Amino acid sequence: MPAKRGPKIISGKAVAETIQEELQAEIAALKKRKLVPGLAVVLVGEDPASEVYVRNKRLTCEKLGINSYAHDLPANTTEKRLLNLIAKLNADPKVHGILVQMPLPKHIDEQRVLNAIDPDKDVDGFHPVNVGRLLNGEPCFLPCTPAGCQELLMRSGYDPAGKHAVIVGRSNIVGKPLAALLMQKGPGGDATVTVCHSRTKHLARITQQADILIAAIGMPEFVKARMVKEGVVIIDVGVNRVEDKTRKSGYRLTGDVDFKGVSKKARAITPVPGGVGPMTITMLMKNTVAAARRAGK
Ligand code: GUN
Repeated sequence: MPAKRGPKIISGKAVAETIQEELQAEIAALKKRKLVPGLAVVLVGEDPASEVYVRNKRLTCEKLGINSYAHDLPANTTEKRLLNLIAKLNADPKVHGILVQMPLPKHIDEQRVLNAIDPDKDVDGFHPVNVGRLLNGEPCFLPCTPAGCQELLMRSGYDPAGKHAVIVGRSNIVGKPLAALLMQKGPGGDATVTVCHSRTKHLARITQQADILIAAIGMPEFVKARMVKEGVVIIDVGVNRVEDKTRKSGYRLTGDVDFKGVSKKARAITPVPGGVGPMTITMLMKNTVAAARRAGK
């Protein structure tokens, strides 16, 4: 009997490369019109994971020919000072997109900061105006991680239309907006969506019904083989640092899914790293290019 083949590995890295090539063509066309997309990346404090994310965002800007404007502020920055900076960036015509890396230090009200960003420069899609537009199905900046998950499914041949998509996690950054995207009428949507979270009863009974399972709960290897059905397509949004003494860094990255365990049953799965992560950054670049294009009209 032939050995059972493992799942298809959905490479976010490869799909992200393809989208970045498309973006490079668009950026070149904008540059012919003397329009260089610009992204302001604001980091407050020294959270090590945030530093890595921000560095990757800036490096990707450089790679694609997007101007990135770095604003690294100390952890004791006041909310007022941060709001002043955002007001300046809102008024700066070279800046088409503004990204404030989350989480912010405890003494700063995150929502107040997000509310201060001009919705037309809100390339993260976190401003209430864009959140509302998303729910209404109006054109808007799509939040980068949910948009990345949707693109990854579509470009890998796993159209969510008519499928039961189960999302584990209800955050404002991933779970909630992803539910809105996948249930939206039209291409990339039309799924039947269930959102589970830490207070869900009989969680495994629900996840076992998923045709597409998206794990975004922030707990290392939370989704086990017994929680999924044969043939499921899994998108693992988790990025967790777990101790690993065999590594020079002392840690390794793992997702919210027990990759090895579920591989016996899944049809397809994203790896961590190299899955959703590169897609999130690429969607940020896509939103920035769209913002520049719109500003140039
Ligand atoms: N922190 C974790 N994910 C994100 C993201 O997509 N955008 C921002 N600004 N902060 C984050």
